[in-house]
Amino acid sequence: MAIASNGKDTPILEHLTTLSDSVRSRILVLLGQELTVGDLCAVLQLPQSTVSRHLKFLADRNWVDSRPDGTHRLYHRTLDAPGHDARGLWDMVRAAVEESSAGAVDRERLASVLASRRSRSREFFDRSAGDWDTLRDELFGPHFHGLALLGLLPASWTVADLGCGTGAVAEALAPFVREVIGVDASPAMLQGAERRLARFENVTLHAGELEHVPLADGTADAVSLMLVLHHLDRPELAVREAARIARPGGKVLIVDMLTHDRVQYRREMGHTRLGFSQEEIETICHEAGLGGTRFQPLPPAPEAKGPNLFAFTASKE
Ligand SMILES: C[S@@+](CC[C@H](N)C(=O)[O-])C[C@H]1O[C@@H](n2cnc3c(N)ncnc32)[C@H](O)[C@@H]1O
Repeated sequence: MAIASNGKDTPILEHLTTLSDSVRSRILVLLGQELTVGDLCAVLQLPQSTVSRHLKFLADRNWVDSRPDGTHRLYHRTLDAPGHDARGLWDMVRAAVEESSAGAVDRERLASVLASRRSRSREFFDRSAGDWDTLRDELFGPHFHGLALLGLLPASWTVADLGCGTGAVAEALAPFVREVIGVDASPAMLQGAERRLARFENVTLHAGELEHVPLADGTADAVSLMLVLHHLDRPELAVREAARIARPGGKVLIVDMLTHDRVQYRREMGHTRLGFSQEEIETICHEAGLGGTRFQPLPPAPEAKGPNLFAFTASKE
């Protein structure tokens, strides 16, 4: 009669061998959260070679896994997955290790290792508070949080961008909302927008005048008029159209220049208006049936050469 002697036919014997080493069992308990080899060495007060040898042993048997984190690897236990064939045995061993005096010491040392990690990060921020804005810009650029805040928009929205130009607004919005519809009268601008927005399946572009927008009533959850109204002879007509294509309760956003005195813009860029005062914009919007208004001057970017801007939001009542 053949007797299984290497444990291969009876996995539980292999599992018992794995767990019979008290260091391995303590490592497994600690790896309920992600830790580096260095963290484990500090908690267990063992040399790196010993900890690495045990980790390799456990990883070879799929009891732990790891992922890269900068120049380190972070290890975690995989044993807790439902259906793992050592799960029942592990639950018993874990309870015993956690109740042991070694388990209690490990818990205390782990708490202090994690606390020193936290205090390293706090020290860094205490030291770098004065330089943080510069460092943040260096690492990530000055604009990412403005774009990220678009994540606050409802993902179900359809947004119409009137006077979309080459599609800067649509490009920012498209990743965050269901649909963006751009409208512009200039074929050259629309061509630029087409090129820029080709990668988005949820953007459509229409040729059309803002005084007669080629969209049905109530099409959009939100409508944007960005740097457009100062080009129009009768901006109130475009705002009326924006209100018409917004659904009830929908939003209208107007971004434009505050009143300024750069008369050369009329000649150089075809501006018909030298910006708008808050009062002018509020009057135009109220006459178009928009309420719940908010007028917000925007802080000028340091490198900006143009007049200061405002953002005006209103709702269709
Ligand atoms: C200064 S650009 C702004 C483009 C874009 N909104 C942006 O922020 O980059 C103004 C745009 O409005 C469009 N436009 C001006 N008057 C228009 C009108 N009456 N009907 C449709 N589009 C018009 C122009 O073709 C141009 O693309």
